[in-house]
Amino acid sequence: MKIVMVGSGYVGLVSGACLADFGHEVVCVDKVEEKVAALKRGEIPIFEPGLSELVRTNAAAGRLSFTTDLAGPVAEADAVFIAVGTPSRRGDGFADLSYVYAATREIAGAISGHTVIVTKSTVPVGTGDEVERIIRELRPDADFAVVSNPEFLREGAAIEDFKRPDRIVVGTEDERARTVMADIYRPLYLNNAPILNTGRRTAELTKYAANAFLATKITFINEIADLCEQVGANVQDVARGMGLDNRIGSKFLHAGPGYGGSCFPKDTLALIKTAQDYGTPARIVETVAAVNDQRKRAMGRKVIAACGGSVRGKTIAVLGLTFKPNTDDMRDAPSIAVVTALIDGGAKIRAYDPEGMEQAKAVLPAGVTYCKDAYECVAGADAAVIVTEWNIFRALDLDRVKAAMAAPVLVDLRNVYRAEQVRAKGFTYADVGRGDMAAEEQAGIDAAA
Ligand SMILES: NC(=O)c1ccc[n+]([C@@H]2O[C@H](COP(=O)([O-])OP(=O)(O)OC[C@H]3O[C@@H](n4cnc5c(N)ncnc54)[C@H](O)[C@@H]3O)[C@@H](O)[C@H]2O)c1
Repeated sequence: MKIVMVGSGYVGLVSGACLADFGHEVVCVDKVEEKVAALKRGEIPIFEPGLSELVRTNAAAGRLSFTTDLAGPVAEADAVFIAVGTPSRRGDGFADLSYVYAATREIAGAISGHTVIVTKSTVPVGTGDEVERIIRELRPDADFAVVSNPEFLREGAAIEDFKRPDRIVVGTEDERARTVMADIYRPLYLNNAPILNTGRRTAELTKYAANAFLATKITFINEIADLCEQVGANVQDVARGMGLDNRIGSKFLHAGPGYGGSCFPKDTLALIKTAQDYGTPARIVETVAAVNDQRKRAMGRKVIAACGGSVRGKTIAVLGLTFKPNTDDMRDAPSIAVVTALIDGGAKIRAYDPEGMEQAKAVLPAGVTYCKDAYECVAGADAAVIVTEWNIFRALDLDRVKAAMAAPVLVDLRNVYRAEQVRAKGFTYADVGRGDMAAEEQAGIDAAA
């Protein structure tokens, strides 16, 4: 199959490299010249485990190439995937579809022979209809079909997710297009990946429903965590007790600082807007988005409370900036709200992230001091906050951390440490939703005494 991937960001680059690895001939297009030039030199503009190697081997094998020229490869293609961004539109939160429609117009001008146009970008219901309308209007002669094939990969585990997906959703009413899609994904049949053939609108909505549900799960356990803190219960045990029920499942029940990233915040907002437009408001999702927004800033207040009620003039070390580990993506990361709340409270911020510092500099407030590792970050700090659970923060030398800090205060927004272990080292320790820990620990200390 000859495939063109329009947009070579997280999704386009990972999808393009994986499809090339399946044996297809893939051309990744991007309009950012420096990005394409870097890719041609074998430099990967994003941090994603395994991606560099996958791109290198498939480029060397001649199955994967990069260009800014969309027209040439599209004219040759069996399938053209649209994988451009669909960020929140300023003002109303609806998905900004300008990149999708701009790409559509460019594709329309170039297609030749039977071509399947596939929207892989996350797009609101009805976008496929509009893509089809635009192409039909510009090229009444064209032989094409428009398919929705939403992507479910997770950053940080993107290649594994693409190659071993839980499901592949293919939305089209066109039999010929369905056959092309089946051929593209045939290598995955070996892994028994189920293909769910649906209508186009159904596929579009499935992606939003899935993301909104996951965001709801996270937000639900976060509210339970708050309650745990008040009633002296342990949210990790509550989550385990819930998650062992197969109807619920254990994933996405980790309490923390609220969801962020390039998808959940914008996709929940877009779903809310779509539901409002169609007169069927998504009240649960509306509440989830509002609760999550408040939570991120509330995590700043949690740090302030752990510092005795004020951070004015204090130095806070922030460990982890990206919205989750194993990515350099800072889009809507909870660290942004936490750092902003602390700076508003008069704190000085030192920060360290293994991969996200360059991206962070563009989005965090000015005045943050960026450090070269965790120990340099905590040096002289009045409190340290774990915001992202990178592996290297899971096994810090706590004696060394304590010796370097001005005051031993650790706020663990990801519950990576055991409270008794940290407190035994002499730290003041705050976590999320483990309200029973202090009591248990006290009981242990009492018993030992
Ligand atoms: N990032 C994720 O984890 C993830 C997961 C599933 C779905 N998605 C969805 O996939 C889509 C892409 O997300 P992303 O994170 O890869 O975005 P991104 O911003 O990383 O990449 C988009 C790329 O498209 C390029 N582009 C824009 N218009 C173009 C055009 N006309 N021609 C060529 N290139 C063009 C941009 O330069 C950019 O490199 C979004 O709709 C997103 O919601 C993302």
